[in-house]
Amino acid sequence: MATSAPVETAAMRRAIEFAARGLGRTSPNPVVGCVVLDSAGRTAGEGWHQRAGGPHAEIHALRAAGDRARGGTAVVTLEPCNHTGRTGPCARALIDAGVARVVYAVADPNPTATGGALTLAEAGIDVEGGLLADAAAAGNEAWLTSVLRGRPFVLWKYAATLDGRIAAADGTSRWISSPESRADVHRLRAAADAVIVGSGTARADDPQLGVRIAGLDDDEVSQPLRVVVDSGATAVKAGARVLDGTAPTLIAVAEDAAAAHLEGLAPLVRLPRAPGGRGLSLPALLQALHDRDVRSVLLEGGPTLAGAFLAAGLVDKVVGYLAPVLLGAGPAAVGDAGITTLAQALRLDVTDTARLGPDLRITATPLHLHHARPEEN
Ligand SMILES: NC(=O)c1ccc[n+]([C@@H]2O[C@H](COP(=O)([O-])OP(=O)(O)OC[C@H]3O[C@@H](n4cnc5c(N)ncnc54)[C@H](OP(=O)(O)O)[C@@H]3O)[C@@H](O)[C@H]2O)c1
Repeated sequence: MATSAPVETAAMRRAIEFAARGLGRTSPNPVVGCVVLDSAGRTAGEGWHQRAGGPHAEIHALRAAGDRARGGTAVVTLEPCNHTGRTGPCARALIDAGVARVVYAVADPNPTATGGALTLAEAGIDVEGGLLADAAAAGNEAWLTSVLRGRPFVLWKYAATLDGRIAAADGTSRWISSPESRADVHRLRAAADAVIVGSGTARADDPQLGVRIAGLDDDEVSQPLRVVVDSGATAVKAGARVLDGTAPTLIAVAEDAAAAHLEGLAPLVRLPRAPGGRGLSLPALLQALHDRDVRSVLLEGGPTLAGAFLAAGLVDKVVGYLAPVLLGAGPAAVGDAGITTLAQALRLDVTDTARLGPDLRITATPLHLHHARPEEN
């Protein structure tokens, strides 16, 4: 097995960037990018998996490369698949194209797709795994987490004042964060398969939850499924902005809720109530979304629902936008999360900080979660 040349490392960096273009569009599949180098190491073809059911990244890149793939190297962010799903196996396509070498970043943990590296090696192709694996896994963290945990990846975002409040004492909350932070939230929404709010937020804010990105037309942005968790079916009413035609909507109600008034307004999912707790069973909610091919969720709050997700250990990552604003009174970013003493505090590992206009964006991961990347093989 040869060691990756600098040209392959550079190609992998580009493949990771290409992969990210698919975020929010490929579920239940991963995002994948591929660069095909010709036998002299020059770029011959590039591609990424653009949408579920469409060609995989390798196929796009091989098509672009044509005959120049023969004797060349395919650089791909995920181990090429070995199975025939809606499209044929990529391992076979790479063999047929005559590539001499395949370099991939992350091994495929999906039991139905794994084995591509072995198939390629058995066909006499030089195969190397693990190049820039951490960076590629970070780009695919939602999908990798969903495979590992059997439920969608949950990213909780909130915007708070420097003293940790998400609204003033009178309930006004627009706007605490800067336009730059709010634009960044739209980027997070576009990368997610679903956005979730609780009934309290639906009642207080009548949010629309769609994606708007400056400079992009409506058909260029991917809109996530909008989900309102409304146990009693009392928060969402005809005319609510979340029911406009921008994106699909799902209202999660209790099995015993009187929801006849919602028939025809939006699809409903009936879920069991949380045993002994408030509202709906959150594992059941995530399962229902998983069953609808949702692999990544942006939890937009509010504090009551966020506290329940945290208490259930169902938050994989936190993005907090802290505005240099003080209120002194008003609800905190998180409601009751079942923590009563400091020893139970949920501690986080900060993975990124950024300035967005006047605000500070902090990205953090709960410390009890193991990194979701499977072992390389
Ligand atoms: N700054 C920010 O980032 C941000 C983001 C979002 C919201 N907010 C603010 O937050 C405020 C609303 O927050 P909120 O805490 O009142 O409401 P919330 O968290 O949006 O909704 C809470 C409600 O969700 C329902 N629910 C369903 N299943 C649940 C479960 N398993 N656990 C807990 N709740 C469940 C419950 O009502 P049912 O049982 O009736 O369904 C519960 O009362 C508004 O002022 C809004 O502006 C701020």
